[in-house]
Amino acid sequence: MDQGNSFDISNEFYNRALNSLAGGVNSNVRLAEAPHPLFYETAKGSEITDVDGNTYIDYVLGQGPMIFGHSPKFLLEAVNKASESGQLFAGQHLLELEAAEAVKELVPNAELVRFASSGTEAVEAAFRLARAYTKRNKIIKFEGQYHGWSDSVLFNTASPLSTPNPNGSINASAMSQGMAEASDSNLIILPWNDFEAVVSTFDQNGGEIAAVITEPIMCNTNCIMPKPGYLEHLKESCMKNNSLLIFDEVITGFRVSSGGAQKLFNITPDLATFAKAAAGGYPVSILTGKREIMSMIGSGEVMHGGTLNANVMSMAATKASMERLSDKEAQTNKKLNDLGGSLMKGLKEINARLELGMLIQGPGSVFAVSFTEGKEVFDYRSHVENSATDKYSTFVTGMMQKGIRINSRGIWFLSESHTAQDIQKTLSAASEVLESMAF
Ligand SMILES: Cc1ncc(COP(=O)(O)O)c(C=O)c1O
Repeated sequence: MDQGNSFDISNEFYNRALNSLAGGVNSNVRLAEAPHPLFYETAKGSEITDVDGNTYIDYVLGQGPMIFGHSPKFLLEAVNKASESGQLFAGQHLLELEAAEAVKELVPNAELVRFASSGTEAVEAAFRLARAYTKRNKIIKFEGQYHGWSDSVLFNTASPLSTPNPNGSINASAMSQGMAEASDSNLIILPWNDFEAVVSTFDQNGGEIAAVITEPIMCNTNCIMPKPGYLEHLKESCMKNNSLLIFDEVITGFRVSSGGAQKLFNITPDLATFAKAAAGGYPVSILTGKREIMSMIGSGEVMHGGTLNANVMSMAATKASMERLSDKEAQTNKKLNDLGGSLMKGLKEINARLELGMLIQGPGSVFAVSFTEGKEVFDYRSHVENSATDKYSTFVTGMMQKGIRINSRGIWFLSESHTAQDIQKTLSAASEVLESMAF
């Protein structure tokens, strides 16, 4: 099991990449991979192989999109076949219509749909639409939630605990240099899972709030589940104040159920954004929403564009993905949740046996692992206060050495290509690594 992996060729490529790519990578998120960003050569099913020939059971899965596993035959065939007839028409084609109809079948709030290429873009479109529809400016977002890297929302995703939070709302903290100075002026940042904070904000600013945006499960911070009734309360508050509720389903969409978190929790948001699992690794994002709101894009009152939107390859991948998710009557989602559930159960047993104080939480198809000395984590601050990130890093490095690739930020993704044997191998590796870590 222990491969004693070497990363020499990756290291050589990475040093070479530093001369041609800024930071040697194309997304800053990838800088976090230990021991340094690795180069990968092939990926099939649940496994991925790097340029040094190390093969891993992969729980990173492209940061979530690969719900069917790597290189699924049905998806490759659909994309290859479609692209032989053309790639981009700057005009309409049947596949985009079929893909939109298939999304409508699965997603409860999808009365109308727009496709784009990244989650960041879909969130931008949702904000613009919400502001145009309500004729208001302010948007409530929650600390520790990530909605893409644009100036309008890249705040407080990983803010220091010293960031002041007077009267329940949290001072804006920009997560990058170079963001336009006033870009936080229309954001209100609140702690998540704290319904009182939302009520008092609406009491003070109700008439100015265009929308509340939330990850329905806080996947970007320790996979925190909403407290019972929390999402229902958000919905009620938005309705009462004529504001829109936006679910950012970029991670939860098509993963936690075939219709996303909105189907899982039976709460229909006014607008929702999807990406990642929508097309098994092809660049697709989706804005879905109520007809009356989405029609403002359709009428041209609200601008939404994109040269590569709904290109043939992406639409073939979306259509094939939607068909697989629905055809098998949610077999994919059942499998993801069952596999994730048994992995979580096994990790919890190891934790109990070794008394490590690990926290393992999430819906199953995606979950998070952290070392909190048994403390509960229900929002961003309780996560940062209680999670020992140094211990988790040691765990990640140990797992990589044993051929198990996990994310340095604690989030684990499952695919339908993972097998019961993969789960067993992962649990024995985890047991060995955790036993060897001195606590
Ligand atoms: C919840 C959420 N929203 C939006 C985004 C941005 O999506 P993209 O990276 O496709 O721009 C992400 C990316 O991880 C995300 O997790």
